Amino acid sequence: MKRMKATKIAALAAALMLALGLMVGCSGDNSSDGDYKLIQDGKLTVAASCDFPPFETLDGDTPTGYGIAVIQEVANRLGLECEIKNTTFDTIVPAVAGGEQFDVGVSSITIDPEREEQVDFSDPYYIADQSIVVRAGSYASVEELEGKTIAAQSGTTGYDYALENVSDDVVGYTEATACFAALQSGNCEAVAIDLPVSESMIAQAYPDCEILERVATGEEYGIAINKDNTALTEAINKILAEMEEDGTLEKLEAEYLG
Ligand code: ARG
Repeated sequence: MKRMKATKIAALAAALMLALGLMVGCSGDNSSDGDYKLIQDGKLTVAASCDFPPFETLDGDTPTGYGIAVIQEVANRLGLECEIKNTTFDTIVPAVAGGEQFDVGVSSITIDPEREEQVDFSDPYYIADQSIVVRAGSYASVEELEGKTIAAQSGTTGYDYALENVSDDVVGYTEATACFAALQSGNCEAVAIDLPVSESMIAQAYPDCEILERVATGEEYGIAINKDNTALTEAINKILAEMEEDGTLEKLEAEYLG
């Protein structure tokens, strides 16, 4: 009896210690920060398609924009260096899913069910609509674009939108910016692209183009993360929440999106 009791007490004590340990583990700040995997120690390796101002673009050779600033601050708060690798948009989700090249993808990537089959997404950090852009004065309504050539970046929601709703002749361009060059030179009749980007492109470089239609798609931009790295998704979400709370996201929006 006595021996059994001692065993029982030992078992209880062990269970209690385990429970306490777990509690400490759960409540401790940044407790999970060490659990995630990184391609390279001490560094967040980021895929970004730098052809999407004002979210991801290049200033000379330096990546810049709202999405870039957000991930740089996330890396900073994780105590990591941030390396941005300029990457073709439609290769980013598959590459993050492959788990060998990049820790995350940041490219104004709209969270959608098809992509969610391949990668996990952080909580959204921005919400955007779609737009249809034409040469100023060339068309009065989107209906007139039926059967005309529409340019969109390959693999984007704008591409899918144009094909489903505007015309069956949609041409995919590797770079978002190339769609505007095609529009200006008459190689297409319209561009389908996220609204904040068309506003920025028109204001910065294409004053002879105009937005024919704004489409309230309310697309949520998320950071793409490998499905086997849920600890990284959690760590990033925690930091995004902090950045929302302390006004950092708002400050960066004002800085980059005006
Ligand atoms: N939001 C759109 C999508 O997810 C377009 C994103 C394009 N991003 C870029 N950096 N070029 O399909």
